[in-house]
Amino acid sequence: MMKSAIHNPQSAIKRVVLMGPPGAGKGTQAKRLVEKFGMIHLSSGDILRAERTGGSELGEKLKKYMDAGELVPDEIVVDIMAGAIAKQDTEKGLLLDGFPRTVAQARALDEQLEKMGLPLGAVLIIAADESLLVDRITGRRSCPKCGAVYHVKNIPPAKEGVCDACGSELAQRADDTEEVVRQRLDAYRKQTEPVIDYYTADGRKIITLDGGSPLEEVAQQAAEALRAGS
Ligand code: AP5
Repeated sequence: MMKSAIHNPQSAIKRVVLMGPPGAGKGTQAKRLVEKFGMIHLSSGDILRAERTGGSELGEKLKKYMDAGELVPDEIVVDIMAGAIAKQDTEKGLLLDGFPRTVAQARALDEQLEKMGLPLGAVLIIAADESLLVDRITGRRSCPKCGAVYHVKNIPPAKEGVCDACGSELAQRADDTEEVVRQRLDAYRKQTEPVIDYYTADGRKIITLDGGSPLEEVAQQAAEALRAGS
């Protein structure tokens, strides 16, 4: 028997694309949504970074684009993400973070989800003013072991440079310099914002959140919006 949305307090839209400029808080909010709703979280940035650390020929190619703040070519990303999606139990729900990032990627994703009979439920956009983003990105520190994310001023760890959760030394991403962030913001404006137009023109459900608000407020807005739309 199908569960009714009214009788299940955890019921929420199941397949979601999470968009927003670099530093808007996609990774931060994705963690909270996954804790609440238990969907599968696939971050294209994390998947590409994992491929790089393997030292493969493909990894070397990715490094060149990512360290320059440029998008990785569509054919590479679509192939990697299609494989990652196909491996998951998407019945649990799917939160795609950072993918799609071009209209060609959005079309490829639609085709794949249509074949799987699992259409997209909503596009969640975390919007934030560019003046906030450079500071957020250059101040970000992450734990290479457990993935916890901090900010030197906004969300500092208890002991400087050390992860609260697992005690590992925190690191800064190679693409988190001011110069590279400006390039990433440019790529977002030119290549990723048209994806919002693509989904809007196709009548998809679009939810826009204010990423400039405190992070627990953004988390609450996101959870409420996904529950309300289910
Ligand atoms: P990716 O890893 O996806 O990076 P990004 O989109 O630039 O986003 P970030 O991870 O930098 O930011 P975020 O929005 O997750 O912010 P976070 O939550 O950490 O991509 C990296 C590269 O991979 C790309 O440049 C490209 O080369 C390649 N790539 C990836 N996907 C691709 C694709 N589909 N196609 C082609 N190429 C692709 O928060 C940032 C900081 O702010 C943290 O310190 C956090 O603690 C803090 N913070 C967050 N929210 C708040 C808040 N509300 N208030 C105060 N501080 C906050």
